[in-house]
Amino acid sequence: MKQLKENEIKELITTALHMAQRAYAPYSHFQVGAALLAKSGTVYTGCNIENAAYTPTNCAERTAFFKAVSEGEREFTAIAAVGGMNGVPKDYAGPCGVCRQVMMEFCDPEEFQIILAIDQDHYKVCTLAELFPYGFGPGDLAV
Ligand code: THU
Repeated sequence: MKQLKENEIKELITTALHMAQRAYAPYSHFQVGAALLAKSGTVYTGCNIENAAYTPTNCAERTAFFKAVSEGEREFTAIAAVGGMNGVPKDYAGPCGVCRQVMMEFCDPEEFQIILAIDQDHYKVCTLAELFPYGFGPGDLAV
């Protein structure tokens, strides 16, 4: 596993906090920001984007993944995510199950690191395997 440096973690958190301010969350008012580090070194950002019909809402984490994959990235090291009511994180906001499933598609669960943060000084680093044990992934369909 690539050992992330403390300054790399803090930079990803700073970017995620910035992105939470871009959230379009007029219904829940819960604003989430994400910063996804690709193995190339490029950071892709995301925020949640809600919808009046509710179901089309896209989480911050998936926004970041879909932006990255659409730019040709397929390999990832880590993602930082922050969230809170009106853009003020007060607790750790773990990625939803759908986002964990999307991570399973592109990431090695033992390697990929998920940084849950409140701010630059309050964070936890978990692997995808810890947050999504026995997840179903591309390997399960290999012939
Ligand atoms: N949300 C995210 O962006 N990421 C998550 O992993 C959890 C939930 C968003 C979706 C919705 O816009 C708001 O938070 C409240 O559920």
